[in-house]
Amino acid sequence: MERALPKHIAIIMDGNGRWAKKRLLPKKMGHRAGADALKNLLTNIIEKTDIEHITVYAFSTENWKREKQEVDDLMKLLKDYICQYIKDNEKNNIKIDTIGDISVLSEDLQKDLAHLEKISSKKTGVNLHIALNYGGRDEIVRAIKNIANDVKNENISIDSITESLVSSYLDTREYNDPELIIRTSGELRTSNFLVWQSAYSEFYFSDKLWPDFTFEDLEEAINVYQKRERRFGGRLDS
Ligand code: FPP
Repeated sequence: MERALPKHIAIIMDGNGRWAKKRLLPKKMGHRAGADALKNLLTNIIEKTDIEHITVYAFSTENWKREKQEVDDLMKLLKDYICQYIKDNEKNNIKIDTIGDISVLSEDLQKDLAHLEKISSKKTGVNLHIALNYGGRDEIVRAIKNIANDVKNENISIDSITESLVSSYLDTREYNDPELIIRTSGELRTSNFLVWQSAYSEFYFSDKLWPDFTFEDLEEAINVYQKRERRFGGRLDS
């Protein structure tokens, strides 16, 4: 029997650089094409599916190690697209927020993100969670610090620390873990994405470069997901 459609899909949007290189374009054009591919995918997801959550890896804690010019270009691109999402908020039906430690981003970008989160908060089409300055390990370290503080201040006891309590200290505390994680461009790694939340996720790896990834490709990923057995460590017949 095929299993239910995934409600939460997370995506590692990889291959923008190679997409640009193949076309002899500057790398930032690849990132721009990647952001357009995401927009297009979201439109289709809202129109044609019941997917509730999409989490995308837009900038990792490791991405700061890239050349300064590329980091600057990526920040500018994010700013442009966030402003575009603010402008299009009336006609869009996307609720947008972020995961990751955004306190190190420019104040300007933080303000835009807070504004976008506020004005889109009543939207019902799909929830877009943008991972920005996000790393799974960093998220767990931040959670451990907050749990330790709450133990120290006697808000919680050590015995109350369970898996679900830890989940409730993560950036993703308000929604369920992704059933499906997609990575494009043929790379077979998770690169510090949703380290805790991916414990039982199915992975789907596509050879397509992210800017070339279409809604049909997403449908194919969902088809493959639906045909796989999901056992959570238990037996099939249990
Ligand atoms: C990886 O490709 C991609 C990134 C580091 C950035 C992804 C960001 C976007 C697609 C923009 C998203 C925009 C919004 C508004 C959420 P790569 O550069 O590592 O590709 P390569 O491995 O081919 O060099």
